[in-house]
Amino acid sequence: MIFNWKCFLIPYEQAVEELKIKFRSIRNEFKKMDEYSPIEFVTGRVKQISSILEKCDRMMLPLDRVEELEDIAGIRIMCQLVDDIETVVNLIRDRDGKDLEIMYEKDYITNLKESGYRSYHMIIKYTVQTAIGEREILVELQIRTLAMNFWATIEHSLNYKFNENLPEDIRQRLKNASEAAFLLDKEMSKIKDEIMDSQGLFHKRSTSVEEVLNRIQDLYLLQMSHDQLELIRKRFWDIKRSKDFDAMNKLKEELDELIKIKREEFENSK
Ligand code: GTP
Ligand code: MG
Repeated sequence: MIFNWKCFLIPYEQAVEELKIKFRSIRNEFKKMDEYSPIEFVTGRVKQISSILEKCDRMMLPLDRVEELEDIAGIRIMCQLVDDIETVVNLIRDRDGKDLEIMYEKDYITNLKESGYRSYHMIIKYTVQTAIGEREILVELQIRTLAMNFWATIEHSLNYKFNENLPEDIRQRLKNASEAAFLLDKEMSKIKDEIMDSQGLFHKRSTSVEEVLNRIQDLYLLQMSHDQLELIRKRFWDIKRSKDFDAMNKLKEELDELIKIKREEFENSK
């Protein structure tokens, strides 16, 4: 049988191009809205013909069933943090039955592989429109953190170099490295939580500054004397420079009291 590879691979190439655009545009949408993107970057590839042949051989799959291979088209989605993977998986699940169909999922994060490999895989069915009509193909989506990707890339190139026969000591060191990558992911997630918390605090801080300034303005409108206002302004700036959050709140409360007194005075003077 003469197999026309060029023709066979066209829909796979098209699917990889389309899916790269789709996942990259998710990232761009988040960025445009000044929001944190769960997707850091996206890559994709069509499996090389030699690798397809090797895999068919290994799986004893005849060439006329080659389309049963799940990873001829492959997309990799890299995330900054482990939690982002779930976000991305859910974004993809939301599209199930729309522009793609999920066949099954493999969670190598909860169930890491013997090698130390961690990633979340989704096998999807994807339809492309070609010149000779509609074609339905399988695509493998790999969703992983930057640390998981770092590990997998190095491990893959070492395996390639050693022809899948890694010396035992290297195999063991790769497992240790996988554990280190896992700890890195864990530590980064913790740091991010703390950053989010401190951003919440930052928000509170900037609002309390705003609140004090509004009260100074109120006091000006209530005709507080120039000297008194200057004293308050000076205190405000001292506290602002010292970054003493509690002192700023205390000043705010004092100003509330002053406003109350000034309002009463103002009312009575009318
Ligand atoms: P192949 O591993 O490709 O033969 O497919 P499979 O049917 O065994 O599926 P599996 O889910 O094990 O692997 C699919 C893909 O995940 C592979 O093609 C790799 O890209 C990746 N992968 C799986 N295990 C490893 C691993 O131990 N190291 C690295 N670097 N990648 C892996
Ligand atoms: Mg495998």
